Amino acid sequence: MKKYLFLNWKNYLSLNEAHALTQQLSNFKVDKSQVELVAFPTIAALTDIQSYGVPCGIQYFDEHEAGAYTGETTFNLVEELGVSYALVGHSERRIHFGETNEQVAVKVKLLLEAGVTPVICVGENAEQRESGQTKDIVSEQIKTAIQDIDVSKVMIAYEPVWAISSFGGTKAAEYEDVQEMHQFISEFIDGQAAGVSVTLLYGGSVKSDIDDQFLKSDVIHGFLVGSASTKFEEVQKLYSRLLES
Ligand code: PGA
Repeated sequence: MKKYLFLNWKNYLSLNEAHALTQQLSNFKVDKSQVELVAFPTIAALTDIQSYGVPCGIQYFDEHEAGAYTGETTFNLVEELGVSYALVGHSERRIHFGETNEQVAVKVKLLLEAGVTPVICVGENAEQRESGQTKDIVSEQIKTAIQDIDVSKVMIAYEPVWAISSFGGTKAAEYEDVQEMHQFISEFIDGQAAGVSVTLLYGGSVKSDIDDQFLKSDVIHGFLVGSASTKFEEVQKLYSRLLES
C-alpha cells in the first residue's frame, strides 16, 4: 500500500529557512512509488520550493477567481502554480478564519475541476469529544464537503483539534481512537458512495517516534505533519519508517 507524508509547514519557516530545508529535501532520495512526500509551504515560498523539484501542495486559497480581492490567494493561482494537492478545512482555517463546511464544499468542487486533489481536513475539538459528538461532527464535515462529487478523487485528513500542537496537543491521539475514527470514516464514505475507498491521513502531533501500530494499520495511509515537518531529521525518520512499514 502506498503511503503519504505531507508536510504542513504552516507559517513556521522564514523564506531562508524554507529554502534551506528544501535544499536538504531535494538531495534526499524518495521512492515515490512507495511514499509520496509533499511539502505545503507558504504561498511566498512555493515557487522557490518547486524549482528544486520538491512536490508541493497549497495550504490555503480563496474560492474567488482573479479580480479585485486585495490580499487574497484566489483560486486561479492554485491552477497557475501547478500544485497537485490543496488543504481545505484545516482546523486553523476553521477556527482562526471562520472557514465553513459550505466553503470547504465549494473549494473541493473547484479543485476537482482543476485536477487538484483536495485534502479535506476534519476533526472534533476537545469539548465535542468529551460530549460524545466526535462522529457526528466528523461525518457532518465530510458529508457537506463531498456532495455531488466523485468521492474517489479526494483525500481526508483526520486531525482531532485537541491533538494538534498549535492547539496545545503534545502527542498524537491514541492509536485505538484514530483507528476507530478511520474505520468509521471509511464506512461513512462507503455509505455515501458505495464501494468507494478514500486515502485517509492522520494528523496531530505526529513525530518520528509515532507508535508502530499507526504504520501498520490498513486504514491509516499516511500523515499530515505540522511542527515536526519543519525538521529535516524528523522528515527523514518518518519517511524511513513509512517506507519500511
Ligand atoms: P502538528 O500539526 O503536527 O504540529 O500537530 C498538524 C496539522 O495541523 O496539520
